[in-house]
Amino acid sequence: MVASWPEPIVSVQALSQAGVSTVPNRYVKPTHQRPVYKSDQSGLDMEIPVLDMSDMWRNPEGLKRVRKACEEWGFFQVVNHGVDHGLMERVRGAWREFFDLPVEMKRKYANSPDTYEGYGSRIGVVKDAKLDWSDYFFLNYLPSSIRNLSMWPSQPPKIRELIEEYGEEVKKLCERLVETLSESLGLEPNHLMKAFGGEDKVGASLRANFYPKCPQPHLTLGLSSHSDPGGITIVLSDENVAGLQVRRGDCWVTVKSVPNALIVNIGDQVQILSNGIYKSVEHQVIVNSGMDRVSLALFYNPRSDIPIGPVEELLTDNRPALYKPIRFDEYRLMIRQKGPSGKNQVDSLLAST
Ligand code: OGA
Ligand code: NI
Repeated sequence: MVASWPEPIVSVQALSQAGVSTVPNRYVKPTHQRPVYKSDQSGLDMEIPVLDMSDMWRNPEGLKRVRKACEEWGFFQVVNHGVDHGLMERVRGAWREFFDLPVEMKRKYANSPDTYEGYGSRIGVVKDAKLDWSDYFFLNYLPSSIRNLSMWPSQPPKIRELIEEYGEEVKKLCERLVETLSESLGLEPNHLMKAFGGEDKVGASLRANFYPKCPQPHLTLGLSSHSDPGGITIVLSDENVAGLQVRRGDCWVTVKSVPNALIVNIGDQVQILSNGIYKSVEHQVIVNSGMDRVSLALFYNPRSDIPIGPVEELLTDNRPALYKPIRFDEYRLMIRQKGPSGKNQVDSLLAST
């Protein structure tokens, strides 16, 4: 694996704070990738579904709503999710404080492309790639054997505890969601978790994203279009600053955060396991000139050393296996080398290619 980045890493937050009045060329996206705003998409007045966790739990009508959301959107917001609202606020605040530290302090955690763990500002090692207008911190959370607290920020003082507390609660939510997804596919409640490799073997990692304000937001993206490689993702968004956009056909729908809700999206591994019934939908993040945005994405993934392929019970004569099985560690490697690129990766596993 490549041990270093192809170009020196520049903190976008530092650029933004220095008050640059134009976006440097390496962040200027080609015209067809630039953001599309709602006002340019006539008649677009759609929103991702909002689901109530207590309603989808063991309830046929609720499960139908889950299924519809996962088939049509690959995204939903969830309320009554069991994660303490005060804790959500505190962990987001702690990350904001971390990003507000002087850049020299954050650089102590500078990451490299072999593990991505730590503080960084790019995904992918392609030289001369157009970069995204954001910085991030990436850390491994599960299995706990790979948790390395010395790689986690030590400032602000409470941040490590908060990450663990938040991680535990989101982990529980993910376990319930995986069970719900399983049932909504017509499988036994524990079927999907077994296919993930079992509760105590799954992986999880956290990415804290910082999207600095940007002098020319129409020229760049905070995060380029991608689908999430893993199982499911839980996003704690910034309540006051929109930015996440979800693809809907040829349109981009900007997510309006419901207060205290969490955003759930289907990743490529669930698309593969469900044999394409559930979609991992492309999404991207736009930035703005007025406000910085912080979000936390917790990626909940199947165990990385077992082959992941379509669940046999979901195959029919009319719908044979669409994807070739692949281990998640192999899959992730492919993505980490290339960086975000729409849905190319999961499509490359199509059995017919
Ligand atoms: C991600 C992601 C969305 C956001 O980190 O994969 O899609 O709102 N984040 O930051
Ligand atoms: Ni994502």
